[in-house]
Amino acid sequence: MQRFETYLKANLPKVETFHPYYNSALEAMLLAGGKRFRPSLLLSVVEAYEPLLFEGALAPALAIEFLHTYSLIHDDLPAMDNAPLRRGFETLHITYDEATAILVGDALNTEAFYRISKAPLRDDIKIKLIELLARDGGTYGMVLGQAIDLYFENQPLTLEQVKILHTNKTAKLIATSLLMGAIIVDLPKDRQDKLYKFGIDLGLLFQIQDDIIDETQSDEEAGKTTGNDEDKNSFINIIGLGQSIKEADTLADDLQSRFNLFDNPLKKALNPIITQYLYRHR
Ligand code: IPE
Ligand code: IPE
Ligand code: MG
Ligand code: MG
Ligand code: MG
Repeated sequence: MQRFETYLKANLPKVETFHPYYNSALEAMLLAGGKRFRPSLLLSVVEAYEPLLFEGALAPALAIEFLHTYSLIHDDLPAMDNAPLRRGFETLHITYDEATAILVGDALNTEAFYRISKAPLRDDIKIKLIELLARDGGTYGMVLGQAIDLYFENQPLTLEQVKILHTNKTAKLIATSLLMGAIIVDLPKDRQDKLYKFGIDLGLLFQIQDDIIDETQSDEEAGKTTGNDEDKNSFINIIGLGQSIKEADTLADDLQSRFNLFDNPLKKALNPIITQYLYRHR
């Protein structure tokens, strides 16, 4: 998604201030890279149905990436996963200090909603986008998932509970990325629901794959601190690597057959993402 990268670079948060490194700290983890999985999902839905709205959709796509990047910065803090490497670079609390990492996370969280409010889209659509991102990226989604993740360290959950954990911490934000695209192009409710459900299962798969990466890849390969899930309710710790790969295969096969039933414009737009990610655990 070259257009998204260009837009991101041109629209980084930038503030007039005498603070010596406020701006560099704000942009560091955004510039560090990342797969841009969530904004790509939103933009693909818009590209499929209303390419003329693509420009207007860039701000909400960037907002999702801001919120996701905030979640990673806080996830890496010593009080959470205590990880020194992210997106191939030192984490912010290492480069600067914990206070800076906490504050950059806070800033990117609120900046996400600020950017949606300023997007060149209809007001009613923007309010709905703000509602969905707040719901799934916050109290009722990602934050709840992170709370469960951290509270239940070293206390094994059932597989059903781990799926609930993964759905909240990861899948809801991924599902809402597709749904926000559907809202921008005004898809009917039944098709919004179908995309959201697809996104939940895609997001669950994405986090199972992430658990597999923690187990099987080096820091260098992953660009982040791996072997870090020892105390976690990761799929690996609950059902083992082999079963986790099988579970990922089953989910991926199911998603592939549901994807095959999508209409042609959506298939065409989402195909690169599906091809790249569905079997990335293999
Ligand atoms: C990592 O997300 C954390 C999870 C929710 C699995 P990504 O794997 O999308 O990280 P980036 O954005 O590519 O760095
Ligand atoms: C993080 O899950 C999910 C978030 C909401 C950030 P992980 O803790 O497994 O993510 P990584 O492996 O550090 O990227
Ligand atoms: Mg974590
Ligand atoms: Mg982590
Ligand atoms: Mg992980």
